[in-house]
Amino acid sequence: MTQARIAIVFYSTYGTNHQVALAAADAAKAAGAEVRLRRIAETAPADVVAGQEAWKNQLDKMQDIAEVSHDDMEWANGYFFISPTRFGTVASQMRAFIDTLGGLWGAGKLANKTFTAATSAQNAHAGQETTLMGLYTTAIHWGSILVTPGFTDDSIFAAGGNPYGFSASAGGFDDKGRAAVAHQTKRLVEMTAKLAA
Ligand SMILES: Cc1cc2nc3c(=O)[nH]c(=O)nc-3n(C[C@H](O)[C@H](O)[C@H](O)COP(=O)(O)O)c2cc1C
Repeated sequence: MTQARIAIVFYSTYGTNHQVALAAADAAKAAGAEVRLRRIAETAPADVVAGQEAWKNQLDKMQDIAEVSHDDMEWANGYFFISPTRFGTVASQMRAFIDTLGGLWGAGKLANKTFTAATSAQNAHAGQETTLMGLYTTAIHWGSILVTPGFTDDSIFAAGGNPYGFSASAGGFDDKGRAAVAHQTKRLVEMTAKLAA
């Protein structure tokens, strides 16, 4: 079977989505995929970042992870996008990268690939589904094959029961979350490999 090539593309200000992305990378490797873990570039002004100790520390912590490139997007045959909720939708840092992809989209380089997403939010009912749907709307434009977790495993129920994609409480990524992310990632890898076969 052709191998899944999964790009895990994440943005994180305070660390939660960084942890989720690391868990997804581990799970994708364990499921037999080739993996590129990539972070979205920070677009907030340096003085704003420096004005918040936690934000600055988190950015420092991620320096060893390469920023996502167009080559990564072309290379992958499956995507896992991970972003915090910002006022009910995807972080602008991630949208800024997405908005550079018109050329690749026009050349058909994003089409017919799998796509799944995860998010985090401060509050349980303040944007988790809408953030995921925002990412899926974009994926629909790309001609992606959406691979949502649905309720295909007990871990989904145990981690809060979000069939759209894993959603963490900010700062609260735990073992139940890890299991749900592992399941969602394994499903992505398996579906990607089947499509590529
Ligand atoms: C500008 C801004 C807007 C936010 N909007 C929401 C929101 O609409 N709903 C919510 O529950 N949390 C909101 N939050 C909280 C973030 O979702 C939370 O900080 C994030 O999930 C933590 O992820 P991270 O640790 O990966 O940065 C917001 C935070 C910021 C800074």
